[in-house]
Amino acid sequence: MLDLGVRLSEIARGIPENASLIDVGCDHGRLPVSLLLSGRIAHAVAADVNALPLEKARQLASDYRIGAERFDSVLSDGLSSVGNVSGKTIVIAGMGGLRISHILRNSQSRLPTVARLVLQPNTETMTVRRCLMDIGFTIVDETMCSERSKRYTIIVAEPRSDQTMCSDQELFLGPVLMKRRDELFEAHCTERLSFLVGLKAKLGDRFPAEREIQRQWLSNYLY
Ligand SMILES: C[S@@+](CC[C@H](N)C(=O)[O-])C[C@H]1O[C@@H](n2cnc3c(N)ncnc32)[C@H](O)[C@@H]1O
Repeated sequence: MLDLGVRLSEIARGIPENASLIDVGCDHGRLPVSLLLSGRIAHAVAADVNALPLEKARQLASDYRIGAERFDSVLSDGLSSVGNVSGKTIVIAGMGGLRISHILRNSQSRLPTVARLVLQPNTETMTVRRCLMDIGFTIVDETMCSERSKRYTIIVAEPRSDQTMCSDQELFLGPVLMKRRDELFEAHCTERLSFLVGLKAKLGDRFPAEREIQRQWLSNYLY
């Protein structure tokens, strides 16, 4: 078996049993290969914009004797060269949120038929959530995990005709994370708040207005 570690395992948890998976920005290919090996998913397409990582993924699949009937790989900028996406679960993980949002917006017209998106932005989670709202998705689950002292947010979203909209505070903090109030998330919010309080004390009048709004969202949520 292939050990996924904490972050990729948490991402894997968002992928439905028997899914047909598209891993955009697959790099090493550990996620699709591990899920195929364990029988969790039925099929995987590994996609990457760079040839070298894609070759690593192909090699890994071949090392574990995963056949072409279950594993495909494609050189692709986002979803642009990926075939049918209908009914599939798309993972986009380990990239900045701006890049993830760009990939989603570029393929917006093809996304209403996907089963689910599982996203793990390294930055700009608010931008990603706003993008999901804009393209007609509802956030159905969110988790936060920590690996090697770094925290990661995982967002699971589905296209819904009865889309649930979020307030700006929910887009910033995460609508599901706010409801769950996990220990890790609360610690994360407390740290962010204390950083902003410190910054405000240091900058005084020069404390940016958007930071002040974030400070208020955090404070209202925590207290
Ligand atoms: C840091 S790795 C993340 C690998 C894996 N998804 C994970 O979470 O461990 C980011 C990968 O995304 C790929 N990538 C970056 N921009 C991309 C794009 N527009 N389309 C497809 N792949 C992209 C990079 O080549 C790289 O292999």
